[in-house]
Parts: sequence; C-alpha cells; structure tokens
Amino acid sequence: MRTAGDVTLALVIDRTDPRPLPRQLADELRTAIGSGLVIAGEPVPASRALAQRLGVSRGTVVAAYDQLLAEGYLLGRVGHGTVVNPALREVHPPSTSRGPAEQTAPTRARVVDLRPGQPWTADVVNAGWRAAWRRAAARPLAPLPVAGLPELRTEIADHLRRMRGVRRAADHVLVTAGARDGLGLLLAMLGTGRTVGVEDPGYPSLRRVPPRLGSSVMPLPTDDAGLVCDDLPTGSDAPHVVVVTPSHQYPLGGSLPVARRQALLDWARSEHVVIVEDDYDSELRYTSAPLPALAALDDPDDGCVVTLGTFAKTLGPGLGVGFLLAPDRLVDELRRTRSDLGQPVSQVAQWAMADYLASGELRRHTQRMRREYRRRRALVLQLLGDLPEARVKAMDGGLHAVLESEIPESELISRIRQGGVVVAGLADYWSRPSPGAGGIVLGYGGVPIDELRTGLEAIAEATRDPDGASIGTRPGTP
Ligand SMILES: Cc1ncc(COP(=O)(O)O)c(C=O)c1O
Repeated sequence: MRTAGDVTLALVIDRTDPRPLPRQLADELRTAIGSGLVIAGEPVPASRALAQRLGVSRGTVVAAYDQLLAEGYLLGRVGHGTVVNPALREVHPPSTSRGPAEQTAPTRARVVDLRPGQPWTADVVNAGWRAAWRRAAARPLAPLPVAGLPELRTEIADHLRRMRGVRRAADHVLVTAGARDGLGLLLAMLGTGRTVGVEDPGYPSLRRVPPRLGSSVMPLPTDDAGLVCDDLPTGSDAPHVVVVTPSHQYPLGGSLPVARRQALLDWARSEHVVIVEDDYDSELRYTSAPLPALAALDDPDDGCVVTLGTFAKTLGPGLGVGFLLAPDRLVDELRRTRSDLGQPVSQVAQWAMADYLASGELRRHTQRMRREYRRRRALVLQLLGDLPEARVKAMDGGLHAVLESEIPESELISRIRQGGVVVAGLADYWSRPSPGAGGIVLGYGGVPIDELRTGLEAIAEATRDPDGASIGTRPGTP
C-alpha cells in the first residue's frame, strides 16, 4: 500500500518565521491534506523519520501531530499508526476519483458500438501469449538495433513468405509501431513537399499522415475492384507516392485484379512513384485465398513497392507493433531515418512478438479468429443481406461491412443511433463529398456475438421505413 511516508512532502520549516515550529509544521500538513497531496486514509510519516528529514526535534513533530489529531485532521489507530482521517474523503475526494461527468451521468441503456477498427481481443491472452511475454520480460535490457530485433525481422520475413507469397531477406524488414508509423517513416525519409495519392474512398487515418509531415494528398478514384489504374496522372502531375489497399480495398472491399496490379507497377516504374501497399488484413480472408501481395510482383532490389504490415487486425490496435518491407534500394536510407527518429517499439514487445510468431501461436490464433469472424460474417449476411432499402457490399475478408442505402446517410445513422447502435458514416471515408450512394460502415469484430446480433437487428430495423411509405432519396439523387 502506498503511504504518505512514501511521498516526499515538500514541507517548509522557516526558522526566521515568528510562528513556533510545531505550529508551522501543523499549518504545512493541513495545507498538504487540503490540497490532496496526502490522501484521506494514508498513514503520515513516522515522527522520528520526519523530524530527521526536516532537521527539527521529534517533539516538534509529535506536537504538530497532536494538534492535528485534536482538530480531527489525523486519527490515531492502534496497530496502524497515525493516519489522515478517512472521514475527510467526503471533503477532499482523492484526485484519482471519477470525474464530475462520470459521477453525474445518468444510467443509460447500453450502446452497441459497431464502429469499425476493433478486432475480437478477448481470446488473445492465453497460455501461449502469456508465455511469450514472460520470456520476453525476463531478458536483460540491451541496445535495440534501429531496424528492430533481427529475430523479429526474421520471423516477419517468414510470415510474409508463408502468408503473402513474398520471399525477402529479413534485412528488407523494419519493425514499426503500425501502418501509420510506417507511412510516417517513409515520408520522413522522402522529405516535405511530396504529393501522396490516396484511394477515394480510403482509410482516413492514413490520409491524415501526409499533411502532418508537410506533404499533400491527391485523391484517386476507385471502383468495385479497387484503385482505377488506367488513367493515373503522368509527368509533373504524377504523385510521388500512392497508398493502395490491393488485397481488400478499404472500406469498399474490392480486390485489385492481377492485370491492374501489373498496370500499376508499370506506371510506378515509368513515373518513379513509390507504391505503398497497405496490407492491413489479408490474413483474415473467408471466401478464397488472397492474391499474393503486390510486393511479390516487384523487384526486390530496384523495386518501387513498400509494404506496410500491422498486427492491429489479427491481435489488436493496442499492441502497437507492425512492420515495413522495402526494396533494397530504399533500405539504407530508411534505416538512417529510423536512427534519427528512434525505434518506437520496446525491446520487450519485440521479443514477445518474435517468440509468439516463432512458436506458431500467431498462426493458430489467426486460424481461430478466421473461424470466429466467418461465423460473424454469416450473421451479417443473414440479417442485412436481404433488405429492401440497403445492400451489403462484397465481404470476402476483414472485420467490417459496408451497407449502402438510398436513405440519406445522416438520417440512417440517426435512426440506427436511436436503436442504440453506433456505426460510422461512409461519407467520412471520402476526401471530398461522395458522388456515389451513401451508407454506413460497421465493424463486426469488436463486440460479443450476441451483442452483434442485437446491433444488426437494430440496423435492419432502421432501414425499414417507419411509416411504411417509400423512403426519401438522398439529396441530389433523382
Ligand atoms: C485500412 C487500414 N490500414 C491500416 C490499419 C492499421 O493502422 P495502424 O497500424 O496504424 O493502427 C487499419 C486499422 O484499422 C486499417 O483499417
């Protein structure tokens, strides 16, 4: 238990002050209790130790304590020494107590949070996970190589070979804190004033990175298969970097066909563009195996594809571990940049991930999660797959679904909210006002399955016209 004896109280005794020393000390302690520096219920420092620290006699401290005991600030307890009176709690609640908003908030019905981005994390912590962290924590702390632990980079290279059909040396891998960190590292290396092409619609969190680092964003059109690759800007209009999600277009779900992948790479080579492949969830595929990563089609030495990987979807965003895979020509400069910025992932987390990958635990966990998400995906299709006013977009993988509807988006979201469910609006994923249909994006990974069912039923209900009449069309639609 923490005691006031552990707190080095800044008590000031001034020998030029005309007040007697016991009185000065009592005043100082009263102020410390009043300001919450010493909390109700905590034992006060032992009189001998405090006297020694302040350079006063023990009798001075005892007299000050007696005064505060008499005033009710302190309480003497047999066997517990002297404590700050617990009854003062009501007068001076400890600073760690709940904030005013929380204290006064009325009890409300539970909201089902189906906003996307959250996987099912309750099953991550098992014996294998605990063992990996225990072993990692027992290792002596040692200097961390700038690109990350060689053992983790070797495991990531192996993971990419098995899962994504990419054969690369571990030297081409850098450990990152996730996809945004990887993009930030690349842009820090390239310098300010760059233009970064992004899919429209696309992942808003990645789109926000370039402006933070002095570069601008160029929205590029997509269709049902992903990035439209036959009319990409050339010459001085070409962006320096393009961020794509070829495996599973975010958020609409298309998979970039091989011919488009080849066209994208040909264009990038001739226009000297760096392609950033955001490979965020290809392990979570339910209908067929994903196409090999774009990096598998690229030249490992002189190529143009930088792949961003993350464990945010398979394990959880709170882990903060990911990786970047780059062609040989970019590796040295990326390492120098990382050396200047520092390696953001702790040694313990890196050893734990290396162990977790090497033992096959991540593969087993991913297989279990795939089964769980397949079940949830089936539930989404069962409850939302056949609605008169809304259509679910292709759902071959991932943890979210897009429901398009002619109901104006804000109205649909507000009806869903009234049904006790929160989701994201599709409009938020566009860089500019959406030319297509409106809709919602819902995550089906983050809540227990019975809560998901309740949420999906409420969404289905919200798409039905409350008056039984034809539902209004979106503004601007005929
Ligand atoms: C499209 C997309 N890319 C990348 C990520 C992961 O980003 P980060 O690792 O920076 O959290 C996510 C996570 O939700 C995502 O949806």
